[in-house]
Amino acid sequence: MVRQHVNPLSRIHQLARPLPPLIELFADPSLPLHLDIGSARGRFLLAMAPLAPERNHLGLEIRRPLVEAAEDDRRRDGLTNLRFLYGNANVNLPEWLAPLPAGQLELVTLQFPDPWFKLRHRKRRVLQPALLLALAAALAPGRRLFLQSDVEGLITPMRQLVEASGVFELAGPEECGPTVNPLPVATEREAQVLAEGKPVHRSLYRRRAAPLPPLAELERHLDTRLEATGDGTDNRHDAAAD
Ligand SMILES: C[S@@+](CC[C@H](N)C(=O)[O-])C[C@H]1O[C@@H](n2cnc3c(N)ncnc32)[C@H](O)[C@@H]1O
Repeated sequence: MVRQHVNPLSRIHQLARPLPPLIELFADPSLPLHLDIGSARGRFLLAMAPLAPERNHLGLEIRRPLVEAAEDDRRRDGLTNLRFLYGNANVNLPEWLAPLPAGQLELVTLQFPDPWFKLRHRKRRVLQPALLLALAAALAPGRRLFLQSDVEGLITPMRQLVEASGVFELAGPEECGPTVNPLPVATEREAQVLAEGKPVHRSLYRRRAAPLPPLAELERHLDTRLEATGDGTDNRHDAAAD
């Protein structure tokens, strides 16, 4: 059985691991790259890759059995512009993204990240200031960051963090909103939420041509806001994790 949640702070998920050269991952390593953080069983990217052959798609997932199952499907489908890799976004992405050729990262999707509700578990939430800055550093002006969640109390602090960085511009409601998904494929979680008739919160951002703020400044902003609002905390229980 695949665990529902893993604790991204546990020691086994802290290891550095190099990104294999893009030439070993994709048939045409020069194509623009779409990175999906938390790709789970991979069904979203398995459907996206044939629809967007002008890009390479990389799914990053912390639960190894899901990566292996998604890779089996990818090989079965003969998709050469798609790969799934095991890794911890917070540990591995800063190193993976820094050496990418300027402008290659075209789109980052972070969809329905694990809902760590409790304030004391907030460091397990995937969108931390350091990760946001690593993404922003790798996204050239105009390139996109797409966030979705069914939990308003969790997407709100994500939006606040992105907006506090000062380097992203929010796309208008005609491009992205509760009833408008800018992408042609729904994720597994998204399909489930929509089938239950529940709302989906979405934000699409474009990188502005502005310099990155210092990490300490962004962390301070987050701490100040947490002290003021207790952000995202509610009475729900976080799922068990190793
Ligand atoms: C709730 S699922 C959503 C999956 C998919 N994006 C969707 O919308 O259906 C969140 C996924 O993110 C993965 N995940 C959580 N923390 C992660 C991290 N630090 N690095 C990589 N993947 C992570 C989880 O294992 C899980 O598969």
